[in-house]
Amino acid sequence: MRLSTITRQTFGIAAMLVLLHFAHPAFSKRTGRCNTIEAAFTLQDSDGVSGTYFLSGREYIEYNLYRESEAKVGPIGELGLRRNMRHPKATFTLSDGHLVIAKGCRYYRYAMTNGTLTFRGRTTFDGLPCSPDAAISWKGEISVFKGCNAWKFSNTTQSFQQDVSLPEWGLPCDLDAALQWGAREAIFIKGTNFWKLDNEISGPFHTDDLNLCSWYLCGEADWMTQRQRGRFSCNGDRRERERERERERYFGHVFINCWASNYATSIMEQLKLGIRYLDIDTNYKRCGVLGTHHNIFCGESVCHIIKQTRKFLRENPHEVLTLMFNHEMQDEELVIPALTRQLKSQLEPMLNNNVRKSGEQRWPKLRQAVRANKRVFVFFPPFSAVYLRNKWIHAEFWYASTWKEFTVEDGNCSAIVSHTEQKCRRSHEKELIEVSVVATANIWSCVKGLAQECRQFHHDMLRACEQHRYRQNNSPNVLLVDYPEEDPHSPSSVFSAVFHQNIRNLHRHRQGTCQVRIDAAVRRPSEEDESLFFVGSKVKVFSHSNKMQIREIRIPRVSSVDAAYVSDDGHITLIKGCKSIKVNSSSLQTLESDWTTMPSCDSSLDAAEYWNDELYFFKDCNVTIEGQTSQRLSTLGLPCAVDAALNFAGVAYVFKDNRVWVRREGETTFSPDGHTLDWSIDAVVC
Ligand SMILES: *[C@@H]1O[C@H](CO)[C@@H](O)[C@H](O)[C@H]1NC(C)=O
Ligand SMILES: *[C@@H]1O[C@H](CO)[C@@H](O)[C@H](O)[C@H]1NC(C)=O
Ligand SMILES: *[C@@H]1O[C@H](CO)[C@@H](O)[C@H](O)[C@H]1NC(C)=O
Ligand SMILES: *[C@@H]1O[C@H](CO)[C@@H](O)[C@H](O)[C@H]1NC(C)=O
Ligand SMILES: *[C@@H]1O[C@H](CO)[C@@H](O)[C@H](O)[C@H]1NC(C)=O
Repeated sequence: MRLSTITRQTFGIAAMLVLLHFAHPAFSKRTGRCNTIEAAFTLQDSDGVSGTYFLSGREYIEYNLYRESEAKVGPIGELGLRRNMRHPKATFTLSDGHLVIAKGCRYYRYAMTNGTLTFRGRTTFDGLPCSPDAAISWKGEISVFKGCNAWKFSNTTQSFQQDVSLPEWGLPCDLDAALQWGAREAIFIKGTNFWKLDNEISGPFHTDDLNLCSWYLCGEADWMTQRQRGRFSCNGDRRERERERERERYFGHVFINCWASNYATSIMEQLKLGIRYLDIDTNYKRCGVLGTHHNIFCGESVCHIIKQTRKFLRENPHEVLTLMFNHEMQDEELVIPALTRQLKSQLEPMLNNNVRKSGEQRWPKLRQAVRANKRVFVFFPPFSAVYLRNKWIHAEFWYASTWKEFTVEDGNCSAIVSHTEQKCRRSHEKELIEVSVVATANIWSCVKGLAQECRQFHHDMLRACEQHRYRQNNSPNVLLVDYPEEDPHSPSSVFSAVFHQNIRNLHRHRQGTCQVRIDAAVRRPSEEDESLFFVGSKVKVFSHSNKMQIREIRIPRVSSVDAAYVSDDGHITLIKGCKSIKVNSSSLQTLESDWTTMPSCDSSLDAAEYWNDELYFFKDCNVTIEGQTSQRLSTLGLPCAVDAALNFAGVAYVFKDNRVWVRREGETTFSPDGHTLDWSIDAVVC
């Protein structure tokens, strides 16, 4: 539910993945107390300033409607309520501005001044039952609810009259609380659900959407305490394949177009795009709530972020997240207690404390974190008492960052690659490494401009770091960027860079289970810049200018092909066993309704390509030029049983597993040319 739009700027975000080695899947049952929202009210004080409050047990939460978030939690005494007002049943406000709190058969009046309530005596109302469930003052009217019944206050008789029942309103019986909400709406709360009344009733909605974070509402978190069973899809793997022990994950990003604008996608969208690490700069005073900041700007509330992560974790039971509240923290004395409380009440059963609790200080594998449902890793500055008491807090010293003071002189960001390489070489032994693209902006170069220039190096930076990490069976863990991703689907986006890093990590860390497998490759004659890579039933559309896969499609009837080439008629011919089919290069649809059997064919091919006007067929250890004799592949510098061959712009490429060979115009043999995965194609099959 969005009640209004607020500007969301600020904060850091990066995503990443933790390299997780080890786990003690100790599993905790939730033991803490839970809260029910027992009453709620909106009140104008004598200065016309209105506040929104929720009451539960001995506590109140003050709500900030503008920030759409909890602002403050405290004991009811702080609000001016007497001790005997704990566990109130229902509250409403009278036309004289007094707040009325119902308890048992009694009604207590309070007046609000300067945000503080003062007791003004007891009162009675004719026509009401004892112990009502909830009450509301809304649009000049007062309604009180108990069971399935409702009563309305009448100005003329100054008493309550029975009104239409709750089911007739479209609401459930036995409400917990009701409240005027913003200028035009009312909400009705029961357990972890609420309904909205504008002109009509809508709902139920989840109380998560109210952004109350300091209370753990009864019944809202059972899913957090359950161990996970069954098969796992791969954490963070958008390809939705089963992969049990993979070790790595993603990252995200951050803030501010030149000076202040939103980050381009919401936290939830970032999570859906594969971000698994959020880097959050917190403050308190500036936002009026536990919020996020970028220097002078105030962004989204932390509560709102936590609620979105909760929702994501609930909907994606096999995902693991890392939340970094870093040293860019303002108002620590207020932030730390509020943050600790909100994290515990919202996520406690899932906060992973195994690293510190085990004493071995080793990171669990992702699978272990998922199985134990300890799926949230939290980093905080290690402030003494809180850090010592809460073993789920990890300090930043666990990891190294490649950050250094860095400006993009004359608009050229390329230096960041060698700089990242050096830093990763030096820090390669650290448990976790963050690859950082946080350049220093000055007034001449706004963040947006820096981003524009640096974005294209995301892939290269990660690869530059990767070589040092792979050497010790580790990986770059986080890619931290400092700007909004305007097009999350662009090949240069952080999402794309970390996605391909994870693909490489999968291959690297799960050798034996995950292989690079390209079935066939062919250029697209209708598109100058593109080639197609066939992997199982998927076709990866590759852009040569972007140097990466830009799209993934399926072609009906096409899967597990052996070879592909451009035939004389400009169509793409696919071969599978002794059958072939043609594909329209521009529509990427098959031109025939079924595969046809080829004449004089006795066994399947490995690969095919057109080169220098001749058609080459690769099979086992030989290559045959159509109509000519075979030649040993070794004489061309190639291994036997290649996977795919591609001719693009006069250059011939041959792929086998994660290796590529190249032969340029005028050369008689092929020479090794790096790794298939460095083409940024998702060609890993597990
Ligand atoms: C409200 O607070 C202000 C400043 O804190 C004070 O000057 C004022 O007298 C207070 N008003 C009342 C009615 O207490
Ligand atoms: C009852 O009194 C309130 C406050 O004076 C007023 O706003 C409201 O319109 C009245 N309602 C009716 C039904 O007269
Ligand atoms: C950026 O700098 C690198 C190395 O200093 C250089 O090779 C490259 O050509 C420069 N790029 C541009 C667009 O100036
Ligand atoms: C191939 O597809 C294009 C675009 O959809 C279409 O215009 C063209 O007629 C098709 N060619 C054949 C031979 O079907
Ligand atoms: C492969 O080529 C060699 C050398 O030209 C030839 O002797 C052999 O018969 C070929 N093998 C096959 C299976 O075609």
